[in-house]
Amino acid sequence: MDFIKVTKDHAPYVALIELNRPKELNALNIQLMSELGETLKALDTDDEVRVIILTGNEKAFAAGADIRQMAGKGTIDMLQGELFGIWTQISKTSKPTIAAVSGFALGGGCELAMSCDMIIASESAQFGQPEIKIGVMPGAGGTQRLTRAVGKAKAMEMVLTGKFIDAEEALRYRIINRIVPVEVYMQEATKLASEIAAMSPLATQLAKESVNRAFEVSLEEGLYFERKNYYMLYSSEDQKEGMNAFLEKRKPDFKGK
Ligand code: HXC
Repeated sequence: MDFIKVTKDHAPYVALIELNRPKELNALNIQLMSELGETLKALDTDDEVRVIILTGNEKAFAAGADIRQMAGKGTIDMLQGELFGIWTQISKTSKPTIAAVSGFALGGGCELAMSCDMIIASESAQFGQPEIKIGVMPGAGGTQRLTRAVGKAKAMEMVLTGKFIDAEEALRYRIINRIVPVEVYMQEATKLASEIAAMSPLATQLAKESVNRAFEVSLEEGLYFERKNYYMLYSSEDQKEGMNAFLEKRKPDFKGK
């Protein structure tokens, strides 16, 4: 892998994916995105991994899709390219995903962070959908996920002016979970990942699926879906382990079975 660094044992059951194209502020070119796609596919079926952290570096999470690579493209190239599938792939990953964002998260980079389940941001994080300034518009969730998160007025402003918002504003508009100093944003993301990794991976998977369902269906349908997932967990050993551990006043040891 040239543009992705993967550490499978970053913490127990926690994998870390680092976008690694620092000179270009982690601009998301086709190779980087296909490496990311392959990595996600492998980690999603790896029993040793329960939570995935996606990060960049202090200066940039990712400054968007690679403009140099897109500049000469036509409609058919875009249609036939597989680039956009990766944004969908990350949102469909069955394991919980956390974006650890510092510096720029712009365009496709902002969309990538928003495709994760949670976002831990450093004080220097900046979010934006500046595509409008280069004659296009968001194409991987910036008009949809962003609008669901921040509401119509703010989404319109961000998408139509391309202006960035800082971490404080992103928190106020519920794009991110919390802001921490730059020196500790990775530690904070790892702490959150480790907390989740200590739970039953079956329960986290079905709980994640159920929360995501809330964006897709009516309340009644969502409640029905939630209930079925809840029942399903009663055929797991982890349910017995979790409840017995509580009664025996000890820490549960979840096996994902
Ligand atoms: C290609 C990029 C890039 C990008 C930065 N670089 N962003 N290259 N694609 N998206 C490159 C610059 O060309 C430069 O390379 C190097 O990274 C450092 O960037 P500078 O501009 O010199 O840094 P700075 O002055 O600090 O400005 C940072 C910045 C600016 C504000 C983030 O780089 C910027 O505006 N970038 C573009 C942001 C953007 O428009 N993103 C949306 C892309 S479209 P050289 O070789 O000159 O040193 C998109 C569509 C997604 O994402 C659709 C879904 C797939």
